[in-house]
Amino acid sequence: MTGMRPGRLTGKSALVTGAGSGIGAATAELFAREGARVVVADVDKAGAAATVDRIRDEGGVAEPFVADVSDESEVEELVAFTVRTFGSVDVLQNYASNRGVVPEDRPVADSDPSVWARQLGVDLMGCVLTAKHAVPHMLRAGGGSIVNASSLVAWLSLEARPAYATAKAGVIGLSRSIAVEYGRQGVRCNVVAPGPIISPGTEAMYSAAQTEVLVEHVAAPRLGRPDDVALAALFLASPEAAFINGQVLVVDGGMSAYAPMVPSFRRLAEEG
Ligand SMILES: NC(=O)c1ccc[n+]([C@@H]2O[C@H](COP(=O)([O-])OP(=O)(O)OC[C@H]3O[C@@H](n4cnc5c(N)ncnc54)[C@H](O)[C@@H]3O)[C@@H](O)[C@H]2O)c1
Repeated sequence: MTGMRPGRLTGKSALVTGAGSGIGAATAELFAREGARVVVADVDKAGAAATVDRIRDEGGVAEPFVADVSDESEVEELVAFTVRTFGSVDVLQNYASNRGVVPEDRPVADSDPSVWARQLGVDLMGCVLTAKHAVPHMLRAGGGSIVNASSLVAWLSLEARPAYATAKAGVIGLSRSIAVEYGRQGVRCNVVAPGPIISPGTEAMYSAAQTEVLVEHVAAPRLGRPDDVALAALFLASPEAAFINGQVLVVDGGMSAYAPMVPSFRRLAEEG
């Protein structure tokens, strides 16, 4: 943007999926502030348009693109659009997540394979398909950086979310494979694993009482915000992280540092 210090992504072209809401939107906006030209991709046309409007209002460069990341032909067109519009795809950020299946994600004995296919199709295969079509451009350009969204749920299970947990664990295996496969050619692939982040996708999921429980289990004075994850992703995407590849950066306010009994011990201490 004009009149500002050079950004950490100046001259880069960034493709962000799930950028119509929450963490993806915050990432697209932050990356534009840091000088990237951003393709704001989402299945939600209005959400993508709103993110682009906010970026342009701040003087940034962004274009919306409506695509379902689980559909290979749409992903192919999305990557082609990015290269056609901004000349390259230097940075790929995957945040698209199918929240619609959450109420249908049942314990495995009651599971419906079509629910698993819809969850894995977006949250895991979206990362596969975008990488499949973006990596050849990155290789031709001499390198690139990918950040995929996993979740704390990949290794700290919530009840009744097996398809989501499996998709998010798969994202870590996929990202490490990409890192090893293409790292020597300059393509890095890392993972952000958010803990409790209050976004449009999650705020309706938690009651006031559940939100209090979440607060009790973070080693921080508050729950997370989309920007907390976007800032971690910026570091991983930026040249400052040039020697960091195949890693998982947990952004959870210390939730995964908690021994499970700590809140109960605290309650006992309060009760005397
Ligand atoms: N918010 C949290 O607490 C949290 C915690 C752990 C992991 N995550 C992960 O971080 C990422 C972002 O989370 P969020 O809370 O901002 O989510 P969100 O629900 O607010 O946004 C997700 C976006 O993905 C889009 N999307 C859904 N299906 C799509 C498809 N098929 N193709 C393209 N776009 C599609 C939605 O329209 C939406 O704009 C997700 O991958 C999520 O699993 C979030």
